[in-house]
Formats: sequence, structure tokens, C-alpha cells
Amino acid sequence: MLGCRLLNNHSKATVMTTDISRRLFINSSASMVVAAGTSALLAASPAASAQTVITAAGSVSPTDETFWSKVADQYLVSSDIINLENGYYGMMTKAVMADYQKNIELLNLHSSYYLRRTYDDSGLTAVRAQIAAVAGVLPEEIAITRGATEALQNLITNYKPLKPGDVAMYADLDYDSTQYAMNYLKERRGATVVSINMPEPVSRQGVLDAYAAAFAANPKTRLLLLTHISHRTGFVMPIAEISALAKARNIDVIVDAAHSWGQIDFRIPDLNVDFAGFNLHKWMGAPLGVGFLYIRKQRLADIDRAFADDDWDASDIRSRVHSGTTNSANVMTVPAALAAHTSLGAANKQARLRYLRDRWVSQVRNIKGIEILAPDAPGSYGAITSFRMTGKVTKADNLAVANELREKYKIFTVRRGGVAAGNCVRVSTALFTKPSDLDRLALALKTMASA
Ligand SMILES: Cc1ncc(COP(=O)(O)O)c(C=O)c1O
Repeated sequence: MLGCRLLNNHSKATVMTTDISRRLFINSSASMVVAAGTSALLAASPAASAQTVITAAGSVSPTDETFWSKVADQYLVSSDIINLENGYYGMMTKAVMADYQKNIELLNLHSSYYLRRTYDDSGLTAVRAQIAAVAGVLPEEIAITRGATEALQNLITNYKPLKPGDVAMYADLDYDSTQYAMNYLKERRGATVVSINMPEPVSRQGVLDAYAAAFAANPKTRLLLLTHISHRTGFVMPIAEISALAKARNIDVIVDAAHSWGQIDFRIPDLNVDFAGFNLHKWMGAPLGVGFLYIRKQRLADIDRAFADDDWDASDIRSRVHSGTTNSANVMTVPAALAAHTSLGAANKQARLRYLRDRWVSQVRNIKGIEILAPDAPGSYGAITSFRMTGKVTKADNLAVANELREKYKIFTVRRGGVAAGNCVRVSTALFTKPSDLDRLALALKTMASA
């Protein structure tokens, strides 16, 4: 297949090293990765082959605008507004989009014959294997879900070791639906649910101290929910370190990695946890409606089957989620999204996203009246950072700030609540964000702060 690369089931995609001097490689195939075992039905369509995929050979400077403008060109972005609300979900590249369209057409053309006879057996297995390979774990430690919510709800509510009276703990920065799932443990499992607040200003040491104090104050803690990157503020939690504190007290950690994989550069073993839920439709750029859960192999027995699932043996992680009939085209497109990610390189992507975040934060951090809610320490932020105009802590205040940015400056952001110290406005950049867009944001914020 012209211009196609096969992603080895058990290794990262190979980085192409031709034309190193330009540090840029344009692959003329969109559907550059095809799940091993899929049939000739999956031949690249003309629409897909017209797209380009940028591959970095090694490390690329985050300020190399020639390179990054090519990366930005991979996306078709509306010019109606400067969209700095890219945390909701990730835009697909044109190549991933073309692959997705091809997969939708294929499913419609061949219908049940394809899904029953070809895809179920080999396609899905290959997709799981590819996710696992990029994430650094075993395929049998992965089960595909419709997103992080489904992954985390299954992990939290089916966590077996929790006994009545045990403490299940979460924090203000955790995601709403995962907080709800933790609260459910009180109603359904007789757990004591404890919610703590993260310090503000937040710091790595501050959260370590907060968790150490919370564990000491709640010696019956058995389960802890942690969010790798807070969707409220953008703060990156030191998961491995908190998990080490927790493990020393026999506390299990479930990590909400909805925002982190694809935004920052890590593999699952780096987290030092046994349970985690992920999205593929945010920073991995897969179509909407796909994520996965991870359970370390040795801990599978500690998560119950989903609704007494009998489709799979209890020794198979796939019995831990039962979604019913879902959109298979988005799952079939995951390899293309993973390939776009690995072609660029997780470290390059992280560096560029951090550079873009720094671009606006560095211009306003010291402006009186503007509070930045994620610190500048290298491991503490990615693409997302929230801000608050000093004293403006209510929902209405922050809706007004986001509205002003949108109406007056044509910049789209989103209000976020739930932070103990008050509401805020979240700014999330993307690979197609232009540095000049962020200069415009910084200027708008300076003007608003001085009004
Ligand atoms: C921190 C966090 N966790 C979990 C989720 C749930 O993800 P999804 O709605 O895609 O399942 C989100 C969604 O924004 C999130 O920000």
C-alpha cells in the first residue's frame, strides 16, 4: 500500500529519519497505520491518501515555527474565533479525519459482515495491542471504553477491596463525574467519603503535604482518586509520588488520566499505580467516543466485572466494561490517531504545548489583578492553565470574563468551577494555536485587568 506504514503491535511507530536537515517529513498517506489483521477492505481511500502527516526525526525545537506551522497545517481550523478551549476534546488532524470517514463508509458498506467476521476477531485485538504498546503496558491490561468517564466509573464503583466504613478520598480538583462515582460508594458500599481541598497557590510539595496530612487524619483510607492533569486549573499532579505515600499506607490509587496521555509525555508504568482511566478523544486526537481503562494484570481480581458480565471470562479485562453496540468507526481510527502522535513524538508535542502555554502566561503572571492557577515548575503544567481575576470568584464573575474575551476579543475560553478557592477561566492551547493568538490573549487580559 503506497505510503503506508504498519505499526508493530508491540513497539512504538518507527520515527522516519529521511531529510533530517529539514527536520520535517511529509508522509503522503493519511491512513498510515492499518490495524494488523484487517482485510483488504481497509485499503486507503483517495480522500485519505490526499492528506499529509508530519513526522519529526528526533527532537524539534518548540520555537521552530517553520516546523510547527506545518504541524498546524495538518488541522482544518475554523477562522471564526481563536479557540483556546481545546481541553473539551481534541480536533482530529485532516489525515485522522479522512481515516475516520473511510471507516464510517466501510462499516456502512459492509455492515455486520465486516464487524462480525473481520473486525471483532482481529481489528479490535490489534487496536488494543497498539494502545498498549504506546502506553507501555500489556494488551491484556487494557479494555476499550467510550471515554474516560466510562473507564473511571467502572474502576471506582467496582473496586472490590472497599469495606463499609473504609474511607474513599478525592479532592476539589478532581472531575465532577468521578467525584459523583466516589460519592456513590457511600450510598452503595457504606464507605466514608472524604473530600479534601488542594492548596492555592498550588505546588508539588503543597499537594504532597496535603495528601500526607489527609492520610494521617483519615487512617481508614483505602481508596484514593487522583487526577493527573486537573481539568479545572491545568495543574499536573505528582502522581507517582502521591501514590508512593498511599502505597505505604495500603491505599489504592485510581488515576484519572483523561487529560494527560497525549498532552504530556509519559507511559503508564511511570504513574506507579494499578488502575487508571484514559481518553483517546482529547489529546490523542481520535474521534469522539473512545478511551480505555487500565488495570495492572496482577490486580484484575480487585475490580469486579461490569454488571456481572458473562461475555468474557472473569480473567479477561474486557469483562470489566460492557458498553453494548457502540461506534466502531472511532475505535478503528485509533491507530491513525496514535500514529499521528508517535510520528510527531510525545516529547516534541509536550514541549510545543508547554511553549504555547508559557507564551501567554509569561506575559501576564506578574500583572496585578491576574492569578495564574498552575505553577511554572517544569513538571507541573502542560497545555492547560486557568486564571482568575483577583477577587472574581463566583460563577457569574467568571462567565462574564469568558464572555468578554469571546465577544470583545474573539477568543474562546471556558469558565471552570469546583476549585475550593473560587471559579476561574481555563485556557487550553492546541498544536494549531498560533503564538500570535496567545499574544492577543495576553494583551486582552492586561487590558481587562487594568480596567
Ligand atoms: C479530568 C477529567 N476526567 C474525566 C473526564 C471525562 O472524560 P469524557 O467525558 O471524555 O469521558 C474529563 C472530561 O473532560 C476530564 O476533564
